[in-house]
Amino acid sequence: MTATIEAKQTQKLALPQGFKRYGLQGTLNLIFRPLPSLEGYRDRYGDIYYSPTFAGFPPFIVISNAEGVEALFTADPELFDTASSNTSFIPLLGNQSILQLDGEPHKKRRKLLMPSFHGQRLQSYGEIITNITQSVINGWQKDNVFSMRKASQEITLSVILQAVFGISKGDQYQSLKEQLGNYLDLFNSPIYTTTLFLSFLQKNWGRWSPWGNFIYQRNKVYELLSQEIDKRGTGTEGEDILSLLLSAIDEEGEHLSKNEVMSELMTMLFAGHETTASSLAWAFYWLHFHPEIYHNLKDELDTINVDSDPMEIAKLPYLSAVVSETLRIYPIALFTFSRTLKTSWEFMGYSLEKGISLAPCIYLLHHHPDIYPNSKQFKPERFLDRQFSPYEYIPFGGSNRRCLGYALALYEMKLVLATVLKQVDLKLVNSQPILPVRRGFTTSPQGGVKMQVSNFK
Ligand code: HEM
Repeated sequence: MTATIEAKQTQKLALPQGFKRYGLQGTLNLIFRPLPSLEGYRDRYGDIYYSPTFAGFPPFIVISNAEGVEALFTADPELFDTASSNTSFIPLLGNQSILQLDGEPHKKRRKLLMPSFHGQRLQSYGEIITNITQSVINGWQKDNVFSMRKASQEITLSVILQAVFGISKGDQYQSLKEQLGNYLDLFNSPIYTTTLFLSFLQKNWGRWSPWGNFIYQRNKVYELLSQEIDKRGTGTEGEDILSLLLSAIDEEGEHLSKNEVMSELMTMLFAGHETTASSLAWAFYWLHFHPEIYHNLKDELDTINVDSDPMEIAKLPYLSAVVSETLRIYPIALFTFSRTLKTSWEFMGYSLEKGISLAPCIYLLHHHPDIYPNSKQFKPERFLDRQFSPYEYIPFGGSNRRCLGYALALYEMKLVLATVLKQVDLKLVNSQPILPVRRGFTTSPQGGVKMQVSNFK
């Protein structure tokens, strides 16, 4: 039977008795206890349900089975508008980045940026990644307690600045690193995270109000990026992203505006290191939480040298499986971007009308019992035993919006893990399980994964 879902309808697909809009409590649960809330909705409403509203996000259809994801990802991308669902990112990243583009301009921007994350360019980042990791290791001392999330962020931020942006020396580099760190660390606080989701709290009442401080910190990052842009000018010829953006010319012979370049830089900086840093911290946590998995990986790493070819390291099967399982069990992004229908569409037996949004829930899909038995168990062997389809395993989303930096993220995670584990024995400071908490739009391990070096080899 075909049901019709209208854009303004606020009922769930299966229309359960007594279903209500989330109240403030429901919204706060989704912000602060996202995983149990999502599991609760899935248990009540099934694999595909209509989420009436999620704070600043418009209502959307939540998809958490492979059939639904396949139907969405194999549909013509021209059916959907993604930019209109991405407006919540604007205060954080500006309003002119790839996240705010659709159709032809989106395709062109992807084409411009893509080479920086693939092929030869990607390979050339290997040495930079291992050198940066080495310098972070050099700063560790035996028995000192440190946050692995912070150490990973130090690495991933330096990688994006040096490898992708071509900024590696001098005061500008240091200032940008520090200021970006301050800006993004605001989202460790529940107050700042809440303001991102509840737009009525976005009031600038001066530096001492949360939103005022957020704007202040953001503008300081903008200032530093603006200086870097002015320093380079449009005649720049490097292969890094900033040079590519500054030298790009559209059909009318125009360069991108400074605002466009700034927004894109913010997006690349944010998307390009926050996510990878949290994922790396999780990988270290899981490996040290499960000694037998750690030992399996150590056996594999014993077959290579510290100075082995980074591309060879990236191909190691058990290391790859550990990284894949890390991104499965607690995906950093709980959802892909929403896709909003530009026209009516038949989806899984439902007639959807123009204006309805759909988004795969990465977390629920990655815990679907038909695909991942004992899904709460960290088990890299799953990825050795079988290959999952691009609709069953989607840490980087899919279709025309698939994460632009996925190859860099995977490469970076593997090289950092191999470089650290070959040289240092680490241990977790606490033996209790760590759960994910929200960090702005993403999730990360609660408490940042406190670790100690027990031995330098
Ligand atoms: C473990 C690390 C990462 C994870 C889990 C991740 C995840 C995602 C997800 C889920 C999406 C949405 C895809 C969709 O809606 O279908 C996305 C988009 C995106 N990611 Fe990543 N990402 C990671 C690292 C990176 C890196 C290193 C970069 C490089 C700068 C990057 C740049 C982007 C960009 C530019 C988009 C938007 C693509 C578009 O709109 O066409 N990400 N990412």
